[in-house]
Amino acid sequence: MTETFKNDVEKGLNATPKTLPSKYFYDKKGDALFVEIMNLPEYYLSRCELDIFQNKTKDLIDKLQLDPNSYFELIELGARDGSKTKELLRMIDAKKFKFDYFPIDISINSLKLLKQDLNEELPNVSVQTKQGDYFGVLASLKESKLPKIVLFLGSNIGNMSDEMAAQFIHNLSAILQAGDKLVLGVDLIKPKELVLPAYDDHEGITAKFNLNLLRRINDELGGNFDLNLFEHQAEYNEEEGIAKSFITSTVEQKVTIKAMGKSFEFAAAEKIHTEVSRKYNDAILAKIIANTDFRICNKIMDSKEYFADYILERS
Ligand code: AVI
Repeated sequence: MTETFKNDVEKGLNATPKTLPSKYFYDKKGDALFVEIMNLPEYYLSRCELDIFQNKTKDLIDKLQLDPNSYFELIELGARDGSKTKELLRMIDAKKFKFDYFPIDISINSLKLLKQDLNEELPNVSVQTKQGDYFGVLASLKESKLPKIVLFLGSNIGNMSDEMAAQFIHNLSAILQAGDKLVLGVDLIKPKELVLPAYDDHEGITAKFNLNLLRRINDELGGNFDLNLFEHQAEYNEEEGIAKSFITSTVEQKVTIKAMGKSFEFAAAEKIHTEVSRKYNDAILAKIIANTDFRICNKIMDSKEYFADYILERS
């Protein structure tokens, strides 16, 4: 892991403009900061998707066209604490559907907590946790020919470029069979006044989350980034529907990273691009999935119409 982290950081800081991959936000501190973000008043995304799972559960089940007489597998990519999915599990359990729930996550610890919690609250639901990277685990689940519903919620697809998202969905279709479904949770394009504060909150938690990446480089790769000389910056382009996060150097400076035996120069106001958070609409999603075996069959929005869970079907 450290070797890949080192190589990715080195490549990103040598690039013009400089970049760092957002997947490295999520160490222990980053995970805790992300939980804080999800509870921020400005970060509407989690609340909106929870609204769908809490208040439109029946609609979701109807649109998934579940067959009460046949067994199916509900697979969740990046389950985290499963709070949204729990609402769906509760209703499909109450309606006596026959299914197994497979939460997949990289963190063994969050899977353990999720299983404990579900076993207490929904003792009839069969929970089979799977630790590992998504495609590794999905490949092992491919053996079973039972109908599958894959959940990829929380606007996680939004942190991919459109090319990566298309590839990701294409790879998923290769693992699934005709009739299988993908529930894709995406944030919808809306005005700057709503989106930008979600990525630049008044308490500065998102700033800490972004700068945590530099702290991680200091701790794990022997960097000497002075976090007081860098700041978080968020931008949102309403036309293209993409929010971007940057770390900006406030002064001209040089930073050394021991693990690479190298120094990197920063000009005053130079930016490191750390994250894209893509916002969607029907046309954007249709374009992304155009060369895959999925088609959009339905979408369910929250009451404010800020967020959507699209239901895609594999042909
Ligand atoms: C995990 N992901 C969907 C979040 C998002 O909204 O792009 C990560 C995040 N970055 C800043 N705030 C939240």
